Amino acid sequence: MKKPVIAVVLGTRPEIIKVSPILSELKRQRTKYVLIHTGQHYSLVMDRIFFTDLHMQEPDFLLGVGSGTHGEQTGKILMRIEKVLIKIKPNIVLVEGDTNSVLAAALAATKLRIQVGHIEAGLRSFYREMPEEINRILTDHISDYLFAPTHISKENLLNEGIDARKIYITGNTIVDAIIRNRRRAQRKSKILTKVAIAGDHFMLLTLRRAENLENKQRLKEILSAVIELCKEYLIIFPVHPRTKNRLKDFKLLKNLKSTKKLRLLEPLGYLDFLKLQSNAQLILTDSGGIQEESCILNIPCVTLRDNTERPETIAIGSNILGGCKRQTIMHAVKIMLKKRRKWKQPFGNGTSAEKIVAILTKT
Ligand code: UD1
Ligand code: UDP
Repeated sequence: MKKPVIAVVLGTRPEIIKVSPILSELKRQRTKYVLIHTGQHYSLVMDRIFFTDLHMQEPDFLLGVGSGTHGEQTGKILMRIEKVLIKIKPNIVLVEGDTNSVLAAALAATKLRIQVGHIEAGLRSFYREMPEEINRILTDHISDYLFAPTHISKENLLNEGIDARKIYITGNTIVDAIIRNRRRAQRKSKILTKVAIAGDHFMLLTLRRAENLENKQRLKEILSAVIELCKEYLIIFPVHPRTKNRLKDFKLLKNLKSTKKLRLLEPLGYLDFLKLQSNAQLILTDSGGIQEESCILNIPCVTLRDNTERPETIAIGSNILGGCKRQTIMHAVKIMLKKRRKWKQPFGNGTSAEKIVAILTKT
């Protein structure tokens, strides 16, 4: 039987990382594919650096949409990707995650009667104010292949009435990415020397989620916990561009810059960030992917949110919801610093990409 042509779409930092094992696998299985980059992320440190670190090929199509409001960004991707899909006529469009790029690509494809494969299907925070939650739900409901990382994500899809025959539990491709890059990161990255860290006596912080940045009071509460922790611990904080802009707008950057034991950095490439994660004492984050990575790397995590779409990490004890109040965060940190790192990560054994490509090509 003739193998299908697959259009793989990516647009942001986590998509590049999580799609990289899929591209290697497509090559290994000699499947015809094209790579489309929406350009949602475009800065050197949010985009190009990952292509270099992960030895990825250049995209075949670059849509160059850039930043904008949700409507603007989603609309531009929809218009531009439709033209490309009409031209290349793929059999399947493959998307990963929950960004505006994912929703727009899936919507364009399904209206052109092209099948859609959704990697990381079925994640739910059950918090509709989060833009990513809307993107996930809509994408799942128009997809033909739903690659759920765990039983919990499959269950979420079934509960919404999605046909069980479309759902495959495959694990998460982030495990594949970590296995491929962890040793290389330890060997190649000089980040520990660069930021003068000895041993594992530091915490790693990332903060970028819209709901934590839009409200000044909420952001100030989170930062007050960070400043409090810095009295005792060294904290490394690679700052997402969106966060940097907000900190400037709210005039909070100066105070942070003068906080002793807080190191503000530009966003890091994957090898540097993986090395920092692997060596941290504790991770504080509002990221989705970092909750998974900390769990896989055996590093305790405090999530700076009131909910998560990765409840597996809470259930096994690698992660805790710290909320966004100074007191709740401090309490969560105290608990996680005492945690025995004995959990078994639930995201698969690093063969997710292989499974996904096999499913897509056997039809
Ligand atoms: C986006 C995704 C989010 C994903 C995250 C990964 C949506 C709704 N959000 O959030 O799901 O988890 O990416 O990091 O799709 N900017 C730059 N350079 C860049 C990219 C962004 O300076 O390369 C700045 C711009 O000021 C931009 C802001 O960051 O307005 C936000 O970027 P955007 O892509 O809209 O959202 P993210 O917060 O990055
Ligand atoms: N990451 C990185 N450099 C950084 C911060 C994050 O390489 O400075 C990686 C991290 O290892 C993870 C991904 O980016 O794989 C997470 O991206 P982000 O938090 O932006 O998005 P989310 O996972 O929440 O969708």
